[in-house]
Amino acid sequence: MSDDSAAAVDVGASSDFPEGKGCQVDVKGRPLSIFRKDGTLYALDLHCYHMGGPLSMGDIEDLTLPEKGESVVHPCVVCPWHKYKISLKTGEGIYVQSDPFAAGGGNKQVKSRGRKQRTHPILEDSDGRVKVQLNLSTDTKFESDYYATEEMKELLARQ
Ligand code: FES
Repeated sequence: MSDDSAAAVDVGASSDFPEGKGCQVDVKGRPLSIFRKDGTLYALDLHCYHMGGPLSMGDIEDLTLPEKGESVVHPCVVCPWHKYKISLKTGEGIYVQSDPFAAGGGNKQVKSRGRKQRTHPILEDSDGRVKVQLNLSTDTKFESDYYATEEMKELLARQ
């Protein structure tokens, strides 16, 4: 991570981020979506890794993913464009696979496509301010990075 991205940026007051709603902020030129679910704040790249949909306008839905023999609940944003679901915690693309040949359409399984959306550390100070630290680590590439380039930001702004 570069020094420039290390400092946490104040993005507003706690009251600016109400429960269950998405908000759009800009941190050092990178558009992000911020959500509060069950009191916890999450920050992800704004534009959906699939085709750039504005995640801040998406609804939130809980999906339970089997992980190492346990069931782990992932609050997910549902992209308003094509309804892809993305974990707010990990940025994983999460989908429900059903067996069309199963009786009654049952046998649904929740699965992960892997981490697709870049997430960013976010904290809430005791003085009621919300701060985001951009995660620009180049250790891992995320598909959502494509929509944070200047060229794509310009294109998306025209839509
Ligand atoms: Fe988000 Fe297609 S752009 S699901």
